[in-house]
Amino acid sequence: NIKGFIIDLDGVITETSEYHFQGWKRLAEEEGIEFTREDNEQLRGVSRSRSLEILLGDKIDDYSDEEFQEMMDRKNGYYQSFLDDMDDDDLLPGARELLDEIKERGLKMAIASSSRNAKRVLNSLDISDEFDAIADGHSVEDAKPAPDIFLHAAKEIGLKPEECVVLEDAESGIDAAIAAEMIAVGVGPEERVGHGDYRFDSTADIDLEKIL
Ligand code: G6P
Ligand code: MG
Repeated sequence: NIKGFIIDLDGVITETSEYHFQGWKRLAEEEGIEFTREDNEQLRGVSRSRSLEILLGDKIDDYSDEEFQEMMDRKNGYYQSFLDDMDDDDLLPGARELLDEIKERGLKMAIASSSRNAKRVLNSLDISDEFDAIADGHSVEDAKPAPDIFLHAAKEIGLKPEECVVLEDAESGIDAAIAAEMIAVGVGPEERVGHGDYRFDSTADIDLEKIL
C-alpha cells in the first residue's frame, strides 16, 4: 500500500553529475591526480567527503585533515559556480510530469539527496515548494548506502518504510533503499541500478502505474 515517493535529486530530477565532474576534475588537475569521466561515475550518489577519499586513493596519506577540508571546500566552490546558471530548464525530461503525477494521485513526496547543496539546487529549479519534506546532506550522519536518509525522510512525511517508493540513479542509493526496506526503483542502466525492485532507463520512462 504505497503512500509516498522519496526521490533522489541529482540524476533523477536534474543532471548535475557533469558539474560535479568539472569541479572534481579541476581539483584533481591542481593536485596532479588523474581523474576521468569514468572515474566520476563511481561518485554518483556518494557524499562529498567519501568522493574525495575515492579521488585521492592512496595519495590520501599525503594530506592533513585541514588540507582535506580545504580541498572539499575548493571543489564545492567550483561546483557552486555552475549552480549560478541553473534554472528550470535544467529539470530532466519527464521530471516535471513525474512530480505532477505523484501529486495528482494524492501521494506524499519528499527529496532525499546526499548533497549539501540540495536546497540551493531545488531553489534554482524552482521546485522547492513541491515537496512535503526535504532531506539533504545535512540531515543525517551516515550517507547512502546507509538507509538513514530515507528513514529520516519517511519519518518527516509520516510514513512507514513499506509505504514508500524510492527513486534513485545511484548504486549506493538503491543499496540504501533496500536497507531501508522500501520499494527501490532504479533510474539508469542495469549494471548500476538493476538490483532494485523496478528499473527504468531514464526519468522520462518511469511508469507510476507499473510501480503502484
Ligand atoms: C549527490 C551526487 C554526488 C555528490 C553528493 C554530495 O549524491 O550524486 O555526486 O557527491 O550529492 O554533494 P555535495 O553537493 O554535498 O558536494
Ligand atoms: Mg543521484
